[in-house]
Amino acid sequence: MFDLTASGLEVLGEPQRWNVHANWKIPADNFGGDPYHVSTAHGSLTAMGLLPSRDVDATRIVAVSDPEHGHCLECTVLPDRGETDEQLVARACRMHGVPENGAKELRSRLTPEQLDSLVRHPVSVGTLFPNFSFLRAPLRSVVDGPYAPAFTIRVWRPVAADRTEVWSWALAHRDAPDELKERMATTVVRTFGSSGMAEQDDTEIWTGMQQSFAGVQGRQRWLRFRPHFESDPAWTTPGVARFGPQGEHRQWNFYRRWHEMLCS
Ligand SMILES: [Fe+2]
Repeated sequence: MFDLTASGLEVLGEPQRWNVHANWKIPADNFGGDPYHVSTAHGSLTAMGLLPSRDVDATRIVAVSDPEHGHCLECTVLPDRGETDEQLVARACRMHGVPENGAKELRSRLTPEQLDSLVRHPVSVGTLFPNFSFLRAPLRSVVDGPYAPAFTIRVWRPVAADRTEVWSWALAHRDAPDELKERMATTVVRTFGSSGMAEQDDTEIWTGMQQSFAGVQGRQRWLRFRPHFESDPAWTTPGVARFGPQGEHRQWNFYRRWHEMLCS
């Protein structure tokens, strides 16, 4: 998702920066492994069509983790509608904001396995351990408007145990048309910018979690954590992967890696 074209990615405008009253691991965890919250926390945005609906078939999500390094990501399994190889690559270009004449470039830059992964189950959101996250998704900033292949990256900079400074950038492929870049930038700001609609949904929960963790009950209770660790045999690309939204091996590996670093 980061190295699809020779000309590379371009940062659209200035980064946004703001503070969240939550520990940095909460948003890193959220981006790395929390598909559950979308249908509830962002339910109003999905109902308005600003976020794509994902409750049709939960198995369309693949949760992938890197147990050794703690990285986590999520892929979306796209429906097989019998498209030709050319159509699949053209769809991947549209989804990633790559100009359609970039199809040839994709084929030359990616291995057959990487290209197959890109066209059938592209990465949508994730966290590169420990505090770098990314989101690439078709989003709308206007009801009934066109979807934009929004792409944002962010860094969760710890400021205090209960406070994080967020740095957020909008990205586009450098060769993309100016109109598309403009739409991608606007969409990122309106959805996942500092006052973006989706960002406010998430921030409300993160700050509530922080308050709960620091409360009397939160400091006394234990959580029984029972993730699946074995990878689904249908997954042929690197990492441990489970089809479907359940199974918190991503969070487990993220926090296990964090614990390992603290104890080293
Ligand atoms: Fe969210």
